Amino acid sequence: MRRLTTPSGDAYYLKMLEPSADEIRDWGNSVMQVVADYFGELRIRTVYRQMSSREIRDRLDAALPTKGIDFDALLKVFRETVIPFSRQNAHPRMFGYVQSPGTPVAAFADLLASTLNANLTVWRSAPAPVEMERLTIDWIRQILGFNAEAGGLFVSGGSMANLAAIAAARQARNSSSGRLRIYASSETHFSIAKAAVLLGIGRENVRHVPVDKRFRIRVDDLVAKITADLGAGNVPFCVVANAGTVNTGAVDPLAEIREIADRFKLWMHVDGSYGAFAVLAESARELFAGIERADSVALDPHKWLYLPMDVGCVIYRDPEIARAAFAHEAEYTRIIGEEADEAFAFWDYGPELSRRFRALKVWMLLKGVGLDSLSEAIESNLACARYFESMVRGSDDFEMIAPVELSIFCFRHVPAELRRESPQAIDAFNERLLIALQRDGSSYLSNATIGGRFALRGCVLNYRTTLHDMDILLDDLRRVARSLPSST
Ligand SMILES: Cc1ncc(COP(=O)(O)O)c(C=O)c1O
Repeated sequence: MRRLTTPSGDAYYLKMLEPSADEIRDWGNSVMQVVADYFGELRIRTVYRQMSSREIRDRLDAALPTKGIDFDALLKVFRETVIPFSRQNAHPRMFGYVQSPGTPVAAFADLLASTLNANLTVWRSAPAPVEMERLTIDWIRQILGFNAEAGGLFVSGGSMANLAAIAAARQARNSSSGRLRIYASSETHFSIAKAAVLLGIGRENVRHVPVDKRFRIRVDDLVAKITADLGAGNVPFCVVANAGTVNTGAVDPLAEIREIADRFKLWMHVDGSYGAFAVLAESARELFAGIERADSVALDPHKWLYLPMDVGCVIYRDPEIARAAFAHEAEYTRIIGEEADEAFAFWDYGPELSRRFRALKVWMLLKGVGLDSLSEAIESNLACARYFESMVRGSDDFEMIAPVELSIFCFRHVPAELRRESPQAIDAFNERLLIALQRDGSSYLSNATIGGRFALRGCVLNYRTTLHDMDILLDDLRRVARSLPSST
């Protein structure tokens, strides 16, 4: 332990800031024990437990810490309070939202990335990490089937990727006159409208297009809306296609949308935050035909590449347009004395300046696991959702509310005694069932509103999930439902 002296002569210790190599090893051993136990005990944990904010606050010492405590005491709080009072996102029956499980190799990658603490602003600030990001971005480009000129970068998530892409789309149109208009299906994630607000385009200029029975954008309506807007003097500039909607997993007809975008000279952005990596699965690949001709794609390695938060990604077909949108000359960012490859700056292609080394976990995952195994894992997730759909369709007490397109399944429970009740009573019952299921803890679903009706919604996004877990989910629902009164 190092003992230092302040300018006034007082001694203080840097133990926590600068432990010795032996101390680091000791801390590391304790942390590894927690990590190994955590992953080893996942299946015997509940996904969630009933808890309150008060209960958690009572366990955390709220006093402003003037004097430090030792590492074991910090780890104890993580082990005894943070872990048990969290939702266990890595659990095989965590079906809520679009939640990746994470994976040990990536947890270690995050530790290593924070150890190096590289700042991926520009090549000279982090030469090897920047090369690793360029390499992994290029792998993702190849996975999507883009041409060699396409490129992009990692961002915090799908919302930020959508924002960056729409900023580039606006730059491509470069119009200061008239009302800019974006088109997207009514099922599109709210991050698109949010991007329009943040970019000053305005929420009201996002035109929502109705969907067909499979919740895909209706292209006839899309064309009608664009034509009407042109006639009214508005400026259509961008169409957003979904490659996996958040509600039902619908994939819009990408090739057709490309044709429409070409006809009307629109930027085509694909929001593949949830679904785009399913292009790796043989049985789903066809749905994504045309994605490689989009002008930009948002996709989230922290969803279907199973990586822990946070890592989103935006790919531009022509990165130079993004550069025109984001490059900003400032003396403190001027690159001096570097040429070509070494003058590369990520800040020219996205909204952030300081950026963590997200590429390391992407690289360790892709290189360590390999595409063959990842494709199999995604294929198995799709199979779980399809199996669940077949069980629901074969039952007389559950019904599907939307077809399964990828790994999302939307359905509801309608036990015999509820069949004659009003739609509102069935919605209310399912809402109570959802809350009771979450509190029960064996399986976790979230919800969606589909055609105005309440839906139980699950998303299989975990390589641990098996067909047997889908059986357990249905059993859990029936068991929990029996404990509920059937009407409100
Ligand atoms: C289709 C879609 N787009 C965008 C997002 C936003 O992604 P993020 O949460 O990474 O910002 C999500 C999140 O679930 C999504 O499902």
